[in-house]
Amino acid sequence: MNMIFDTHAHYDDAAFDADRDELIAHILGSGVCTIVNQGTDVRTSRFGLQLAEQYDGVFAAVGLHPECLDENSLNDIEEIRRLAKNPKAVAIGEIGLDYHYDIPRELQKEVFVRLLALAEELDMPVNIHDREAHGDTLDILRKYRPKGILHCFSGSVEMAREIVGLGMYIGIGGVVTFKNARKTVEVVREIPLERIVLETDCPYLAPVPFRGKRNDSSMISYTAQRIAEIKGITAEEVLNTTKTNAERVYNL
Ligand code: NI
Repeated sequence: MNMIFDTHAHYDDAAFDADRDELIAHILGSGVCTIVNQGTDVRTSRFGLQLAEQYDGVFAAVGLHPECLDENSLNDIEEIRRLAKNPKAVAIGEIGLDYHYDIPRELQKEVFVRLLALAEELDMPVNIHDREAHGDTLDILRKYRPKGILHCFSGSVEMAREIVGLGMYIGIGGVVTFKNARKTVEVVREIPLERIVLETDCPYLAPVPFRGKRNDSSMISYTAQRIAEIKGITAEEVLNTTKTNAERVYNL
């Protein structure tokens, strides 16, 4: 049974250059049903759409990642708008705020807000990145109220409750299997499964026992197993419900 829906992947990454096609062809049909590749700039958004055109089970989000912004990014929004009209584009992503790196915050906020407006205009969900920027991310989400996913959720239970209250979903990946994942475990325990979706962020963040290795969508089975332990249910139930959730978010 193919029950794994990976809501957030980066198969455009160079880490997959040697075996991308063999890998995707193999995992689709051996556990994985659906992958949504996330764009980080115009080039990777196009790449994701090419993959999506190649495989029935692959879809693409198109967007500008806060870490990838530069002086041309505001001009790139027009191209993202064009790409978003491709029938296999299902979301605007990966977009958001990243205060870990030294990228001008005013530029990050302006691009984020303009891409949220684009998502609203096109009636599409979003996939949001928030690293060390919880306060500003929440302020913007409260104001714009997009549909979609807060990916690789790293905030508190209180923040998770507010995100769910805004109608959004919480993206949980390999981090929940890490030894030091106390906060993520607490979020998984407190938030209803109906509001959780699974993801890899591959090639990064492989779950234990593959931590540090190249991640891929098939490894979501380990993430699901850990969530099942935390919630006291079966891994199958976790995969089943999160798949339904993901289909609802991405309108698939
Ligand atoms: Ni990502």
